[in-house]
Amino acid sequence: MTATQLSAPVAPTAADSGRGSYWITTFGCQMNKADSERMAGILESMGYREAQAELEADLVLYNTCTIRDNAEQKVYSYLGRQAQRKRSNPNLTLVVAGCVAQQEGESLLRRVPELDLVMGPQHANRLDVLLAQVEQGQQVVATEEHHILEDITTARRDSSICGWVNVIYGCNERCTYCVVPSVRGKEQSRLPEAIKLEMEGLAAQGFKEITLLGQNIDAYGRDLPGITPEGRRQHTLTDLLQFVHTVEGIERIRFATSHPRYFTERLIDACADLPKLCEHFHIPFQSGDDDVLKAMARGYTVDRYRRIIERIRERMPDASISADVIVAFPGETEAQYRRTLALIEEIGFDQVNTAAYSPRPNTPAADWPNQLSEEVKVERLREINALVERVARQRSARYAGRTEQVLVEGINPKDPEQVMGRTRTNRLTFFPGENGRWQPGDLVDVRIDEVRAFSLSGTALA
Ligand code: SAH
Ligand code: SF4
Ligand code: F3S
Repeated sequence: MTATQLSAPVAPTAADSGRGSYWITTFGCQMNKADSERMAGILESMGYREAQAELEADLVLYNTCTIRDNAEQKVYSYLGRQAQRKRSNPNLTLVVAGCVAQQEGESLLRRVPELDLVMGPQHANRLDVLLAQVEQGQQVVATEEHHILEDITTARRDSSICGWVNVIYGCNERCTYCVVPSVRGKEQSRLPEAIKLEMEGLAAQGFKEITLLGQNIDAYGRDLPGITPEGRRQHTLTDLLQFVHTVEGIERIRFATSHPRYFTERLIDACADLPKLCEHFHIPFQSGDDDVLKAMARGYTVDRYRRIIERIRERMPDASISADVIVAFPGETEAQYRRTLALIEEIGFDQVNTAAYSPRPNTPAADWPNQLSEEVKVERLREINALVERVARQRSARYAGRTEQVLVEGINPKDPEQVMGRTRTNRLTFFPGENGRWQPGDLVDVRIDEVRAFSLSGTALA
């Protein structure tokens, strides 16, 4: 969701501490990106400095994703290269973190004996403790269920403008295709005060935009105690948004990922009423067919999804809507798949992340006999991607000639004369930087001159 950003300055003190250099490669979702930033912060506080290149680093950490088989396989090919390097450089420290680490645990050590540390996502904040064990000459596997302690480490963030703040870890849903609950564990909400404190800290450093993160962010608070005098749960996402909205200096707030089952009218109203809440909603629908949704155990119908979008558009007519969808789920018929296509067209999504179903370990759907062929997967994915692009292009057209507020995040890596940022609705936007006139963190009114399916170009006004 976040585009390339200018990197933050590296702490100068690290170089002379003698720990050597580190390299982190992050796969997967924003949860992993946020974890990587915290792990980078830990490494720097231990005295490591960021390496210039992966092949020069003294410590290489892969923060891995296993959402689909191709994501998992990518890690093994990266690891093969580093394992080979380690044979000629025994001082190299090799770490696998994240979701593949959690899924495979010790068997990763058997597969890649050169590894020093295998650590699940719940252990990200403990990287220093685990590395201390490695320094004593052990191979360490940390995948046991762990209560995530309040984060006292300072993240080394990739952007100095847009920050991620975890609000809930884990997922208690049981979507039949999904590996996340088994690798990310049970839901653990952070306390509102801790979240606000982190946001205040970021605001003091000059951050302007915060994305609150959770795999199922609408579940926020259901594991925290407390009932209001009206008999409502005290901690909900809506209450949290109202609570953190007052943080001064933060101009924009987003949240992801939403689950249609828990997306309430109260939440929609709060988003419409709170000025910093951006008019962009990422609400995966996964399939446009009720029977497929039932087989996925998603817990809502297509109609319920439609009503959520209608309600959002009633209150925020220009809101952008994005989603995730899976094609070729086991047993999905041609007619069911066509309903997914029809829903994309009907809703008019600004962006849809598409994927062909991939069987995952320890998930029910992986064992079903009605798997679809590779040919069907490839063909449906190709067709749906073309549709997504066409619909996104239609949605982009509405920006032509309009003035949009853009938060500058950095230089366009493909054209240093331009800066880039995003609209409140999350469209990537480029415009001339005018020789340094526009700097990261500026909120600029931009007239949109050129529209493309997934990005815009314009000219700054005034
Ligand atoms: N918590 C979010 C997203 C989780 S993973 C949610 O509930 O929507 C991100 C996306 O990956 C999912 O939305 C889904 O579209 C896709 N995905 C998950 N498991 C998958 C699988 N086994 N095969 C293909 N796509 C999958
Ligand atoms: Fe996976 Fe479903 Fe949880 Fe999302 S809500 S992470 S798709 S189990
Ligand atoms: Fe991947 Fe783990 Fe995120 S499996 S999508 S990195 S929660």
